[in-house]
Amino acid sequence: MGVKEELLRRRTFAIISHPDAGKTTLTEKILLFAGAVHMAGAVKSNKIKKTTVSDFMEIERQRGISVASAVMSFEYMGLKLNLLDTPGHKDFAEDTYRTLTAVDSVVLVVDSVKGVEEQTEKLMKVCRMRNTPVIIFVNKLDREGRNPVDILDELEKKLDIRACPMSWPIGMGSLFKGVYSLHAGALRLFRPHTGTDNEEVTACSIDSAAVEETIGPDAAAQLRADAALAEGVYGAFDRAAYLEGKSAPVFFGSALNNFGVKEMLDTFIDMAPCPGPMKAENRSVQPDESALTGFVFKIHANIDLRHRDRIAFFRVCSGRFEKNKFYKHVRTGSDIRFAAPAQFLGSSKDVIDEAYPGDVIGLYDRKNFKIGDTLTEGEPLNFTGIPSFSPEIFRELIHTAKKAKQLEKGLSQLMDEGVAQLFIMKNTGRKIIGTVGPLQFEVIKYRLEHEYGAECRLETYNAYKACWIRSENREKFEEFCRFKTDAIGQDKDGNTVFFTESEWMLKHYIEDNPEISFYFTSEFK
Ligand code: G4P
Repeated sequence: MGVKEELLRRRTFAIISHPDAGKTTLTEKILLFAGAVHMAGAVKSNKIKKTTVSDFMEIERQRGISVASAVMSFEYMGLKLNLLDTPGHKDFAEDTYRTLTAVDSVVLVVDSVKGVEEQTEKLMKVCRMRNTPVIIFVNKLDREGRNPVDILDELEKKLDIRACPMSWPIGMGSLFKGVYSLHAGALRLFRPHTGTDNEEVTACSIDSAAVEETIGPDAAAQLRADAALAEGVYGAFDRAAYLEGKSAPVFFGSALNNFGVKEMLDTFIDMAPCPGPMKAENRSVQPDESALTGFVFKIHANIDLRHRDRIAFFRVCSGRFEKNKFYKHVRTGSDIRFAAPAQFLGSSKDVIDEAYPGDVIGLYDRKNFKIGDTLTEGEPLNFTGIPSFSPEIFRELIHTAKKAKQLEKGLSQLMDEGVAQLFIMKNTGRKIIGTVGPLQFEVIKYRLEHEYGAECRLETYNAYKACWIRSENREKFEEFCRFKTDAIGQDKDGNTVFFTESEWMLKHYIEDNPEISFYFTSEFK
């Protein structure tokens, strides 16, 4: 098969959710349906303190939290699915944000009892930045949850997307009977047992007598009224609007009970996009171009603790990637080749000979890569859209006199991996580390000590947010930097960063300084 045929059969996606909504459970059920794992429990929730398929760093085992995202590649119905797992804990949200730059679509899991939660909103904002197509799976219908109309309303309001129900639940909690599949015209009844498929599917129109016969006259009347309302309010599924990230098809089910998962998965493979064009600095890269291009969106350290290796996760954007072929590392200008590029299913990995657009492969890295690095066949190309996000929690790094060199080295490598962001204050040279969650600091301390043998102290540094600032008006910019001199720093690329003390003050600075632009991602737009 050529590049075009191969890319047409790829679907590269991530499952995202607020912690506990059921992402791990849904991931596992998808893998079970696809035959990629054979045992329930093979993918463990990232809270469990055991070695698991999607959780494999030592520190994750120690903490029982999924610090890093794994990639799972498997075949389903003649397609190749690349499922990028994302950390469940909100402190590692930046890792999730970056993973979202490497997917073509996402499945968002929402808990029917809790509705749209804080992390769901944040993740959706990142999807909206890239217009990523989103499918929503409303989970835990076996529990007494919220009314479907309330949930759909909340999805639309809080996530700023049109919701399009593809199925409609029949009862819920202890009275949950199943769903009526609006898009396919079928009753899918819930028949709990322990297999992978707990659905009894009967193709029938909603007006047919089979509906009464199966779910009883009262439930049938309610279903018809609900379906008429759903059609009137939410309209029919519009694939173009879905592909533009404007409308999200919504499924109802229960991942734990294997219900609604197959319906969602089968619809997903029909409508989710295959790899599309990717934006680079000077042009848009088409996936079917013959020359290889791609970028590193994640670096995973020390998977094998006996070796000091890292794995750079590389998303192929165009062309064919080949084992042992030389590629141009655009940032360094060097030519490098890879003898053992790997494809993953959690901690097990296979060396592959070639990879195609949409594929995510692991490249063994001897500290050559930084997040965002591009490989090509010679073209000086840089992909855009892999920004750093405004950190919200800060610590000042205090050197202890011992092992300063190791500390510098460790710190620089952790920053290359995107574990956190390091800023140097302009006035004082103080080193400030910024993250989106406090647990990252423990990861940094732990890794500096265990991997680099370097100790350091991290002291609280009070700031509400660090944002990037720029201005066309040099004079005003310098005046602002002078005025806020103690709150100005530089990021790793020398961009000016402003540390603000509170949300209220930030609003005030933005209003009072119209000549200055404040940015919340490092990619200025
Ligand atoms: P996460 O990755 O999004 O954090 O969620 P995860 O799948 O770990 O699920 C969180 C909890 O919700 C788990 O229970 C899981 O069993 C439960 N759950 C997932 N899907 C459903 C569902 O459809 N119905 C119901 N009732 N529960 C569901 P736990 O008690 O935290 O963990 P565990 O001991 O069951 O693994």
